[in-house]
Amino acid sequence: MYADIYARSVRDPQGFWGEAAQAITWYKSYEKVLDDSNKPFYRWFSGGQLNTCYNALDRHIEAGRGAQLALIYDSPVTQTQRSYTYAQLREAVALFAGALAQQGVRKGDRVIIYMPMVAEAVIAMLACARIGAVHSVVFGGFSAQELTTRIDDAKPRVMVAASCGIEPNRVVHYKPLLDRAIEQASHKPERCIILQRPQEPGTLVEGRDIEWNDAIAQASPHECVPVEATDPLYILYTSGTTGKPKGVVRDNGGHAVALHWSMKHIYGMQPGEVFWAASDVGWVVGHSYIVYAPLLYGCTTVVYEGKPVGTPDPGAFWRVISEHKVSVMFTAPTAFRAIKREDPRAQHLKNYDMSHFRALFLAGERCDPDTLTWAQVMLERPVIDHWWQTETGWGIAANFLGIETLPVKVGAAGKPVPGYNVHILDDDGHEVPATQMGRIMVRLPLPPGCLPTLWNNDERYVSSYLSAQPGYYLSGDSGYFDEDGYLYVMGRIDDTINVAGHRLSTGAMEEVLASHHDVAECAVIGVADELKGSLPLGMVVLKNGVKRDTDELRKELVNLVRDRIGPVAAFKLVTVVDRLPKTRSGKILRATMRKIADGEAFQMPATIDDPMILEEIQQAMQTIGYAAKEKDI
Ligand code: COA
Ligand code: AMP
Repeated sequence: MYADIYARSVRDPQGFWGEAAQAITWYKSYEKVLDDSNKPFYRWFSGGQLNTCYNALDRHIEAGRGAQLALIYDSPVTQTQRSYTYAQLREAVALFAGALAQQGVRKGDRVIIYMPMVAEAVIAMLACARIGAVHSVVFGGFSAQELTTRIDDAKPRVMVAASCGIEPNRVVHYKPLLDRAIEQASHKPERCIILQRPQEPGTLVEGRDIEWNDAIAQASPHECVPVEATDPLYILYTSGTTGKPKGVVRDNGGHAVALHWSMKHIYGMQPGEVFWAASDVGWVVGHSYIVYAPLLYGCTTVVYEGKPVGTPDPGAFWRVISEHKVSVMFTAPTAFRAIKREDPRAQHLKNYDMSHFRALFLAGERCDPDTLTWAQVMLERPVIDHWWQTETGWGIAANFLGIETLPVKVGAAGKPVPGYNVHILDDDGHEVPATQMGRIMVRLPLPPGCLPTLWNNDERYVSSYLSAQPGYYLSGDSGYFDEDGYLYVMGRIDDTINVAGHRLSTGAMEEVLASHHDVAECAVIGVADELKGSLPLGMVVLKNGVKRDTDELRKELVNLVRDRIGPVAAFKLVTVVDRLPKTRSGKILRATMRKIADGEAFQMPATIDDPMILEEIQQAMQTIGYAAKEKDI
């Protein structure tokens, strides 16, 4: 039962994860399950050697799964479908691994992958893993500037990109964005391998770029290269509170063990079944549950290049589930809000055979009770909200279809996952009783699979996550346990916001707005949005004497954020104010402004320097459709 398994995992992590590690094939067995010789930098399976790609592909073929489907590419935006058996996927991966090696990529080298949801993105990731190179996938909705930041931090030897991506309303010009990013970067990759897509082929830069097809035509298949369990498999950048993203590092050994364990125990999967995470390979959900976990466990994964609505209709998810016989699906609540908005009675569901479908998992943002209940009623299946982060790489709190399906409580993200010793602490580090809100923390060591550090930045790892309370990992989320031990995750305690399940930094947006020549100061807050959960809203104060047409200025500011951070920031709301509300010591009262925007009750901060400003702020927000009009400040 869950309670016993959980208790054992925190009492005896060595024994618990040592047993789980038996499911992975090692070239050389580890010397220690948990290496705590350099606290607070805990390492899992030190001394062990393995290859993640071998565990995801080759060993299944050796065990007789070669003819089973490993990957189904389903792309309504290009009206294409293609599938790969395990044998075919290994062939493609081994060949591309050979191509990377031929272009000079060696074990430990970094490779940045900038690609949309195409099968080649997965092939490129696994090919890196095969030769022990460290991939860093950058989401296509980010700007050239964001790509530049990642190039300069990861210093890739080679970059792999597609010529374009397809959004329902436009073509995303990956190749020009790539060229601009490299031009702006101080570090220059030696080679770019470009997947030419017929919708918009890119222009190659002579001497630097090579076409994907040419690269593989010259290559021969590469074998798996053994790596240390503690060697990095990938770097994935995530928003911090400043403009500089954090390079979350994932190791090979702990990651393989944890993800393999999770497929059975959390998601209740069996090898041979179809698992579908409707996310993007640019996010952690894509890394873990489109690519690695389903393949490590011998399942079939779906790479879906489309949206929940509009490609072509709100029945798109049901079509994929029925056509590919998906057993378990994973996506963000925002996707279901989009479907619910267009097809509130789920009429499209009637057209599809959902008989293989067992459960829906949601994560990425807080799931509002309405959406969860709607999905439960329409699907007549367990709908499970579970909580996790880029840093952990897999669930911290969940339900456990492969252990014991706990009753679902609407609003809760389940109970702590075995291995995560979760506590709620107040600002002074004291544990708070059930039902009381506090900071959600995890007592060290974190289980396998979680970040061992940040890329080339142990210091930032410690200061961001481990120094708030010695001996604990600071999740950055607030929440509480109820009397039954269910965890309620209520929101971030830092300046990051969740827009359509994507974590974004309001601090980074403020840096962009502040760089505009007419802006003296600014604030960006997250305000509630029915579809995307929250949206960024900017308020700017102009420099003395500057007079600007407000609409024109707004356009400039919106374009500036789109250009520097990317369309994914969904930055469209901005207003000009005469001044910002501050405390007497000069701190901007963002939380109070957020409450005004969302029409929530708030107490006048005792330290505010001029209460009248709040009325001005409310009026400014009303001009762009925000803030409850009747709010009595
Ligand atoms: N490449 C380039 N641009 C992208 C992109 C990508 N991979 N993904 C999104 N964008 C763009 C969109 O085109 C949009 O641009 P626009 O301002 O020109 O319209 C912008 O980024 C904002 O995108 P998004 O927030 O996704 O909004 P949307 O209105 O396009 O779609 C949903 C809304 C709900 C349909 C969409 O967010 C969705 O499908 N979510 C599914 C859940 C998910 O992927 N979660 C990830 C973590 S699990
Ligand atoms: P990311 O690293 O971008 O996946 O974002 C992780 C953050 O998303 C978490 O720290 C939470 O703030 C939020 N989040 C993810 N899953 C949930 C959930 N089930 N409930 C509430 N918040 C969530």
